[in-house]
Amino acid sequence: MTTYDVETIKEMQKKILELKKIKNAYIIAHNYQLPEIQDVADYVGDSLGMALEAKKTDYPLVVVCGVHFMAETAAILLPDKKVLIPDPNAGCSLADSITPEQLIEWKNKHPNAVVVSYVNTTAEIKSLSDYCCTSSNAVKVVNSIPKDKEILFLPDMYLGMYVREVTGRDNIHIWPGECHVHAKVSPSDIVKSIKENPDADFLVHPECGCTTSCMYMKERQKIDLHILSTGGMVKHIKSSRRDKFIVATEIGIIYRLKKETKGENKDIKPLREDMICEYMKMITIDKVLRSLEEEIYEVKIPKDIADKAKKAVERMLEIV
Ligand code: 13P
Ligand code: SF4
Repeated sequence: MTTYDVETIKEMQKKILELKKIKNAYIIAHNYQLPEIQDVADYVGDSLGMALEAKKTDYPLVVVCGVHFMAETAAILLPDKKVLIPDPNAGCSLADSITPEQLIEWKNKHPNAVVVSYVNTTAEIKSLSDYCCTSSNAVKVVNSIPKDKEILFLPDMYLGMYVREVTGRDNIHIWPGECHVHAKVSPSDIVKSIKENPDADFLVHPECGCTTSCMYMKERQKIDLHILSTGGMVKHIKSSRRDKFIVATEIGIIYRLKKETKGENKDIKPLREDMICEYMKMITIDKVLRSLEEEIYEVKIPKDIADKAKKAVERMLEIV
């Protein structure tokens, strides 16, 4: 990755802001994006927020600064607009953990089950699903499905186990997929950090490998632990009176959290400095500029897939 000095970054940001006006373009970015990208975006948020924002946008050109499934979700919702991703290779290890063939085989084994797919999936997987959900509304989506209905939940097993625990349903089958960034967080990472920071509030993304242990520690040991989406973390820290927070998710969110709480003297630290999503970091400021200049790379979904996927995505947006 080329590194740029501050002046060059500022110059590129200026050009991006000019091009946005000239081309009537809108930039939607995820909380994990690089600071210089968050600063030129019109909206920064979690997966659910990004999809809600895409749905209501009137701009003819939308640049999604995030990973590929996020741009696909926007393209599904905006079939008449031009949706761009600055680097089409920005994938997601979690979305890659299930193929359409595997899902079809799984569905065949459970023909009466309702399929709930996390938004971190390809458009094709979404087209084979009944509902989509994100980490912020997964529990609500599952609770909206009649209790006697069997559910296939995919692809994140840690989020799936969390949802199973919170909803108390024993008819949820869970796909054994994981995100390589979050899965590496172990219960011992949290236990060690709690010992070192007894006065801190702990915010944990439900994709983390320690999620089930965290639920146990919260309920039984009354530890100040909160299992939240990235958007939930922003809301929590902004409204909390506490002044020390340890955050277990991709480290890009730290910039957003500090920016949102500027001047409030809040101490916000990542649980692990090595929680870096190399896919999210493939979106760089020079690529955003080039994307706007050349209107690349357009994300196009075949109509038959997009139409089916849209039903599952729309259901997700109705349950906020
Ligand atoms: P959020 O929906 O919480 O932003 O999570 C998206 C993601 O990819 C987490 O790794
Ligand atoms: Fe996918 Fe994990 Fe990166 Fe999120 S952090 S985009 S789930 S690989």
